[in-house]
This record gives sequence, C-alpha cells and structure tokens, in this order.
Amino acid sequence: MNFHMSVYGITLNILLFFFRSGSTKLAPDYIHPCNDTSSECLVKATQDAVPHFVRGIPELDIPTLDPFVIEELSIPLSGVKVTFLQGKVSGFKNCIVDNVISELDKRHFVLQFHTNLTIKGQYTAVGRLLLFPINGEGDATIKLTNLRMKVDINTKYIKGKNGLHHFGLRNYKYTFDYGDRVSFDLQNIFKESKQLSDTVLNFLNENWKTVAEEFGKPIVDYAVELAINTIKKFFLAVPYEELINVPIPI
Ligand SMILES: *[C@@H]1O[C@H](CO)[C@@H](O)[C@H](O)[C@H]1NC(C)=O
Ligand SMILES: *[C@@H]1O[C@H](CO)[C@@H](O)[C@H](O)[C@H]1NC(C)=O
Repeated sequence: MNFHMSVYGITLNILLFFFRSGSTKLAPDYIHPCNDTSSECLVKATQDAVPHFVRGIPELDIPTLDPFVIEELSIPLSGVKVTFLQGKVSGFKNCIVDNVISELDKRHFVLQFHTNLTIKGQYTAVGRLLLFPINGEGDATIKLTNLRMKVDINTKYIKGKNGLHHFGLRNYKYTFDYGDRVSFDLQNIFKESKQLSDTVLNFLNENWKTVAEEFGKPIVDYAVELAINTIKKFFLAVPYEELINVPIPI
C-alpha cells in the first residue's frame, strides 16, 4: 500500500515537474508582466488586461465581471423598501485605468479608474413616499456616467502548495464618486398612475446625486466586493512571478 502510494507520489512529482518546467504558464497571454513598479508600466499593463480579464477565465474558475448579475439586493430606505432583482451590471470592460501604485515591500496596492456602468433589471418598491403609498414594480435601468473609484488594498505573500509565491489580500477600502451623472429609468413606480410615476421619476433624475447617495452604496459595495473576490481568486491561481518581474521582497 505504502509502496503504491509513494509510486503515485513520485509520478505526480515528475508530472508536476514537466508541467512547471515546460513553457506552461498559468497567466493568460494578455497579462504582460512589468519589469519594474513604475505607475506608467502598471497602468498600461492593467489597462491591457482589463477588457479580457473581466470576461472571466473559466480554466481558472474566475467568474465574469462584465456583465455580472446581482440576483437580489434590498435597499431599505426611510419608508420605502426597494429591492433589485436580476440586475445585470455591464461596463467594466470599458473602464479607464487612471493610476496603479504597487509598493511591493509595503504590501500595498492602489487601483484608480473611472467607467460608465449600466444596471438593467427589475425592481420592486413597497412603502410610502411622502403622502403616497408606493407599490411599484417593473423594469429598472440605472446608468452611471464616469463613476470614479479608488481601491486601496493591503496585500501579503502566500506560499502555495507547489512552493510558488502568490499575492494574497489582507483587506481593502475604497472611495468613489458617482461622477458626472446617474440616470434612472424605473417603470410603474405607481401602478395606478402613469402621470404620478413620471413625476416621481423626473424628481429622481433631477435629484440624481442625492438619490444615488441614498440608494447607491449597497450596489457599489456589492460590485467592489465581487471584483475584489475575483482578483483574490486570480492571485491565488496565478503565481507572483507571472504577474510581475520584480524579485519578491521576502
Ligand atoms: C520586460 O522585459 C522583457 C525581457 O527583456 C521584455 O520582453 C518585456 O517586454 C518587458 N516587459 C514590459 C512590460 O516592458
Ligand atoms: C462615458 O460616457 C460619456 C457620455 O456618453 C462619454 O463622454 C465618456 O467618454 C464615457 N466614459 C468612459 C470611461 O467610457
């Protein structure tokens, strides 16, 4: 029994050896590792990778980020409970990378970008708005123009089973602003009255900034969390040395 197991072990090691020593790399071809940590190179490398990366990498079990679907998200507002269903978020593939900072020895990474996003799905809204009972449901489209975001990530280095190092994520925080405009298109806010629905919709659009500030955070939190988890998976799948050509500071 032991004998067989060690034979298997040896075979496995030999196989692994051939896999690793061949030109087999795990990173997709659109990853162009920088030879230094200049922002110039990192911005370009990130910008090159984004439109491909957001499509997902099935071989590595990395999910698609453009589009991604928010199955259900409830936003309790004062007096009204709004729920989004099957919200399809698209637009990350067109994001413009504004800055990337990688401080390898401080284990610190910053990504700054802006993008246009569209969220399309269904919504329900139940409750009371001012004097009016609300019982709306229907199609919902929300468009964000030039959403700006800065994500600040503390990293670590993890040694994988195969002895290779990987980036790991310790924690993150982010700041953002809703950019130039957020537009709302919500059908049937009041089932009984098209006119009242239109009036409220106009109100929402005229006050988009306030509305976005009240509404938006849970949606943005959700999107960032998803993106971070996706990056985390990617880092665990692809070794450090395939991502950047700078000696690891450990
Ligand atoms: C890094 O250096 C290699 C080897 O000189 C080169 O082929 C590659 O293009 C460089 N990478 C970048 C992003 O400049
Ligand atoms: C977003 O859309 C606006 C208006 O359509 C356009 O001017 C802008 O360049 C777009 N931004 C990005 C990041 O694609």
